Amino acid sequence: MSKVRVGLIGSGFIAAVHVRAFRRVYGVAVDVRTVISLDDNVADFAHRFAIPNSGRDWRAILNDPEIDVVDICTPPDLHAEMVIACMRAGKHVICEKPFTGYFGRPGDATPVGTKVAKSVMYQRVMEEMETTCAAIRASDRLFCYAECWVYAPAVAKAAEIIRASGDKVLFIRAENGHSGSHAAHAANWSLSGGGALIRQGCHPLTGVLYLKGVEAAARGERITVTDVTCDVGLIAPTLTPQQRTYLQAHPVDVEDWGVLSVTFSDATKATVFASDMVMGGLRNLLEAHTTGGAVYANIAPNTNVVAYLTDESRLGDVYINEKLDRKTGWQFVCVDEEGIRGFTGEMQDFMECVSLGRQPVCGLDLAYDTIKVHYAGYQAAEEGRRISL
Ligand SMILES: NC(=O)c1ccc[n+]([C@@H]2O[C@H](COP(=O)([O-])OP(=O)(O)OC[C@H]3O[C@@H](n4cnc5c(N)ncnc54)[C@H](O)[C@@H]3O)[C@@H](O)[C@H]2O)c1
Repeated sequence: MSKVRVGLIGSGFIAAVHVRAFRRVYGVAVDVRTVISLDDNVADFAHRFAIPNSGRDWRAILNDPEIDVVDICTPPDLHAEMVIACMRAGKHVICEKPFTGYFGRPGDATPVGTKVAKSVMYQRVMEEMETTCAAIRASDRLFCYAECWVYAPAVAKAAEIIRASGDKVLFIRAENGHSGSHAAHAANWSLSGGGALIRQGCHPLTGVLYLKGVEAAARGERITVTDVTCDVGLIAPTLTPQQRTYLQAHPVDVEDWGVLSVTFSDATKATVFASDMVMGGLRNLLEAHTTGGAVYANIAPNTNVVAYLTDESRLGDVYINEKLDRKTGWQFVCVDEEGIRGFTGEMQDFMECVSLGRQPVCGLDLAYDTIKVHYAGYQAAEEGRRISL
């Protein structure tokens, strides 16, 4: 394919990140042709990124012969419906995290997050994923799961070391934390399919599953998740307005703290931590401990540039890091955010896949397994017991 033509659904936070990443793809000509969004900013967004077309009806993209790939950058409750429709329309699909979730069905008591049993959610999300996966498998188009952690250079290096060494990964400890999401959908289970545990924890969990998959492939083995335990918490509502000054979390029926413990079929372990109660900027960290040593993948913060800053008024638009409440004091400055967090790498892979017809590094299996483990985790937390997969 001489040129890959992309249609974007969504003009919010991550859509802008994706467009900037598309602009950096090399070796494949990428043309972002259209952006569809319900936001009033959609025409401005198109103008800002020199995208020739914009609109409000995402279904218009399905019959657009000028679109090869649809990039889904909408809230999670819309992912499955959009993936199925795009696949059936013959489009390649890029889907943001999480792949899907349980958002409620007609007749459910509300709010879904506190009224529907997690065992029911787990069963239903598995049923719904079968439908989505069947549509993907029935298509000859590519499904690309936009989990940036898999492509973050630090995680990619950990994968390279694990692959080359053939070492056994004994346990992985991984974390995604910050002070709360900007997105309106983050507060409600019916839009996000869960709280911090899935919204943030899906990043480190997919990173863990990816690295265990790399390890298994290096030795010609198959390693699967056998058991999950989990705990979740809801801390923000216990705080006074003054105690919430620097926290952005406003959960309605979702958790703002969670920890997931995973046991693999080779008896090894992983813990995944996620929280909206973390200050000091984004924390995206993964430690893999192996029979040959240890690898610490510090996506953020890292010490690439450490600065001590005294006067914020003189820093202008200088970007320091995501989710910071100030720019002064000692700062871990994020350099090349799109690159270091994996967005550049994922779009490079996806565009090469579409152009050359190969499968992406991050595809359907990782998307599916992540959701399965998360919902088993939610059931484990609610019932206070270990869930076997
Ligand atoms: N990889 C990452 O690090 C990362 C970071 C943030 C968000 N995300 C994911 O990206 C997705 C979007 O999150 P966000 O933070 O950009 O949210 P956002 O609220 O900033 O943007 C959502 C966009 O979806 C559009 N939208 C909603 N319903 C629509 C519809 N029916 N038709 C067309 N457009 C519609 C909105 O108009 C908006 O432009 C979520 O799945 C989220 O989990 C990923």
